[in-house]
Amino acid sequence: MEFFADFVIKPTEQQIALHRYLTILTLLIHLPYAGMLLGSSLFSIIFGILNWDKPNPLFSRFSKDLMDVVAASKTAGLVFGVLPLLVLVLLNVQRFSGSNVTTLGYLILAVVIIVVGIFALYAYRSVFHSISPGDPEFFRRTGIGTSGLVILLVGYYLLFSSVVLLNHPEKWAFIKTPADLILSWNVVWRFLLFIVSSVAISGAGTVFFFFNWPGRNIRGENEYGRLVKHFGASAALGSALLIPVFGFFFHVTSPIVAMSVNVYVVWMIALLVFMVGCILLLALLRSAQTKYGPPIFILFLFAFLMMISSDQAALENATREHTAALLDEAETIKREREEARQAAMAELEAATPGRGKEVFSARCVACHRFDEKLVGPPLLSVLPKYKGKMEELVSYVRNPSKKNPDYPPMPNLGLSAGEARAVASYLLEDVTEEKIPEEP
Ligand code: HEC
Repeated sequence: MEFFADFVIKPTEQQIALHRYLTILTLLIHLPYAGMLLGSSLFSIIFGILNWDKPNPLFSRFSKDLMDVVAASKTAGLVFGVLPLLVLVLLNVQRFSGSNVTTLGYLILAVVIIVVGIFALYAYRSVFHSISPGDPEFFRRTGIGTSGLVILLVGYYLLFSSVVLLNHPEKWAFIKTPADLILSWNVVWRFLLFIVSSVAISGAGTVFFFFNWPGRNIRGENEYGRLVKHFGASAALGSALLIPVFGFFFHVTSPIVAMSVNVYVVWMIALLVFMVGCILLLALLRSAQTKYGPPIFILFLFAFLMMISSDQAALENATREHTAALLDEAETIKREREEARQAAMAELEAATPGRGKEVFSARCVACHRFDEKLVGPPLLSVLPKYKGKMEELVSYVRNPSKKNPDYPPMPNLGLSAGEARAVASYLLEDVTEEKIPEEP
């Protein structure tokens, strides 16, 4: 995976902050969509099976409508499903460069699997045209749907294990096989948390998209409406109530370095928002109204945002050292580049004809002559010891040290590297050649 190194720009602090917001944004675009695709496909398959078991036109219609809601638009699948995942990979390659390439490898594998799963579920949706009495297509359709669902689940399990493992930098060096990556309670709880929040957002989304979405309003249809509302709201309520439980176990199994007040506060806000959503779900279930659909859906989306932010804060804590190392590296590279630039400039200045003499007349003649003593010693008496030692002379004139007790110290003139080099080469090459006697 050395290959990745070529794509990596060493980040600065601002870039790391930007990176954090981009990751949160990307996940916020992707995870609610992924959750809805997962949950709605699950509901759809369940109702397909119920219908096959005991034919009921409401069930078969619900089974199909669910997929029409989540997998109708290919553009949505691309924009919410596939593209954010690619962005996520790029972001993580950037962020965790030089850390553990194995987990990054798994992340990429996970993304490939998830994309295959998304395609399979779109295929599942597209074979719905033919629900006819007796449902002869049942096995083929349910087979495609179930495989899509399983592929997607495997993909997300892998995704969460690689992301969760980024939280455990101390383990990075030890991950050699997929089993090391997958067998961790922390990953299991994170995955379960994802499943229940997926079902929750799918339930809330079902109510919202069936009743409150323009063009798909089934408010007038009593029987079907009741089925959709009751199933959607109950699924959302039941699963949302499990979120605090799984969240608790997830945090208990998280590494201590990842935890901070921030992580908990944001997580608590997420829980609070979920609970407000639950209260509205109860109100929705008890009344004939459906006007709570939009606020519930929006609250759940907001809770997703909080959960994602909490995860990111934890990741940040856990990987602080790696971040510091990256920043250091960026700093060093910057410094080296600046030094190289200055050296090149100095070289250029030193090579400019007449530049050394110019500097000498402007900066040195106040105290030096070649053959008489002024404030400083006659240069012809001191230059021989610098013969062939250009670097030494450059560094002396840039930063003089005490030399001869008969003289006061030479002050630091604040010469640039270029000026120092120019004057030194003038003194050693032009002047010396003509005037300096060979050292006795
Ligand atoms: C403000 C006065 C002053 C100016 C300006 C000054 N020098 Fe000096 N320089 C001195 C003094 C005083 C000494 C003696 C320092 C000592 O021996 O510690 C000295 C010493 C030196 C020496 C001898 C160092 C040694 O190893 O003994 C060199 C070479 C020299 N100066 C080069 C320069 C050059 C080149 C410039 C102009 C870029 C310059 N100086 C500008 C005051 C000055």
